[in-house]
Amino acid sequence: MTSKLQEGILVGCGNPLLDISATVPMHFLERYGMKEDDAILAEERHMPIYRELAEDYQAEYLAGGSVQNSLRIAQWIIGQPNVAVFFGCVGKDKFADILREKARAAGVDAHYQVSEDTPTGTCAVLITGTHRSLCANLAAANKFTIDHLEEPENRHRIENALYYYISGFFLTVNPPSIMRVAATAHAKQRPFLMNLSAPFISQYFMTPLLDVMPYVDIIFGNEAEAHAFATAQGWPADNDLREIGKRLVALNKLNTGRPRIAILTQGCDPVLLIQHDSVQEFPVTRLTVDEIVDTNGAGDAFVGGFLSQFVQGKSLDVCIRCGNYAAGHIIKNPGCTYSGSPEFVE
Ligand code: AP5
Ligand code: NA
Repeated sequence: MTSKLQEGILVGCGNPLLDISATVPMHFLERYGMKEDDAILAEERHMPIYRELAEDYQAEYLAGGSVQNSLRIAQWIIGQPNVAVFFGCVGKDKFADILREKARAAGVDAHYQVSEDTPTGTCAVLITGTHRSLCANLAAANKFTIDHLEEPENRHRIENALYYYISGFFLTVNPPSIMRVAATAHAKQRPFLMNLSAPFISQYFMTPLLDVMPYVDIIFGNEAEAHAFATAQGWPADNDLREIGKRLVALNKLNTGRPRIAILTQGCDPVLLIQHDSVQEFPVTRLTVDEIVDTNGAGDAFVGGFLSQFVQGKSLDVCIRCGNYAAGHIIKNPGCTYSGSPEFVE
């Protein structure tokens, strides 16, 4: 528990998804042309997955959606409700009710836009051993429009926030909304944080990603995402993660008074913090195979832990250590869920 924070200081936008999670055999992935540790958007041929999981694989239903995951984890650690505000679009159905309830219980102040005619988005989480493959059917999440941010109360919420976090995933939905939030952050000289989210974002959505990059103060990503970005940029193929990080922070930035920072995770290997030409490493406490329930949400939880300290003005060192703490915790729990009280000590 921390000293009292102002409500609504952290605003996030993303895809509110309900995760449908199940352990499946490898041939299930092969049948749908999927890889073990991937994240993709569902195409027509993937649609039967969701019903199959429910009917044949005793699927579990868990609150998901990358940004919402991070905000739930941040709230859990902050221990005071409504510090984080979330915007995204859901349908008018049972799944939306579950997401609303999970957000409320976690202390996230969610303000969903509601699509009347499209179901709430889902994400198939296909677990094979300690790996997981994601297939998101955005559905209503894809219906998000900037009108929602223009509602007077929401506009007010954005203007009053002090920190902003949006996933790369949201680039597939509504770049104008991202640009709006980024421009507000810039005008008010407040930090704007973003995530590379998945390799396919750099592969297919590089144009809107580069449009927003000049506004990005902190960029998060994992190894695969950083390499996908580098490849899409045509950077030398042998570039190691440190070099990619240095190039990421050197990309054009609007507010030059606050140089960009890149934070790259690499599973159980150290987290890299890249600023200017310097690279610092933060070790990860390795978990044994027995301790790992599933790594689903590890990256999101890392960001959640980071944000929980960042909004309290803590040093990057503390923020990253809390990120590692949070990721380690959710790996020991199904999906991006937590249990008990947070035990992070600065
Ligand atoms: P998912 O991609 O699984 O979550 P993630 O948070 O990215 O978790 P990963 O396991 O991929 O971790 P990572 O590779 O990013 O990080 P790293 O391994 O470096 O996605 C989860 C959610 O995404 C779902 O809920 C779904 O709803 C949502 N989603 C999917 N598609 C979407 C879409 N289109 N739009 C919106 N949402 C979408 O690890 C990070 C940290 O974890 C490390 O730094 C370390 O601290 C820790 N860690 C990792 N491995 C270990 C280990 N073995 N031991 C100890 N610590 C570890
Ligand atoms: Na987990």
